[in-house]
Amino acid sequence: MHLLAAHRLTGILLSDLPMRWAHSQQVLSQARKLAPVVGNARVVLAVSAILHDVGYASAAVDTGQHMIDGARYLARLGCDPLVCSLVAYHSSSEWEAAELGLAPALAEFERPPSDLLDAITFCDLTSGPDGAPVDATSRLDEVLCRYAPDHVVHRAVSAARPALLAMVARVEERLAARPGGYPM
Ligand SMILES: [Fe+2]
Repeated sequence: MHLLAAHRLTGILLSDLPMRWAHSQQVLSQARKLAPVVGNARVVLAVSAILHDVGYASAAVDTGQHMIDGARYLARLGCDPLVCSLVAYHSSSEWEAAELGLAPALAEFERPPSDLLDAITFCDLTSGPDGAPVDATSRLDEVLCRYAPDHVVHRAVSAARPALLAMVARVEERLAARPGGYPM
């Protein structure tokens, strides 16, 4: 799927979720900043970034885990399998799937290459829920505050927190190592 088509589709699917739409546009903006460190995958990353939360759209809701629901929805549209994989696995998906007994559903999709999974997770975790840029630590703290301690998202994000921050740190190291250094 081309980026323009992905952008239009996401805008339509999230039209009644304006904060998710604003967040998704910021995730795309972060993906564009990573273009110098992801090489030929920059378009795949950008398309996956704008689409990553379509699983919240009413047209896509199925299992209730938005990463899996979004990936399934996009697979039904014939979307690139790598884009579906990045949507399926982004951020705390593996931990949420384990909490929800949805690991088999997640396994419908191939786990994406680690460098790209790090990249989309970085983009998501440095984009606030309202579309403002944030640092990943604040973002995770905000998610933990938004969901009650017994909620699956709270439990999954608590367990995933060290791994997620390590993913973000790896991307920051790659950005800092490029000529010109960290662009943000
Ligand atoms: Fe997101």
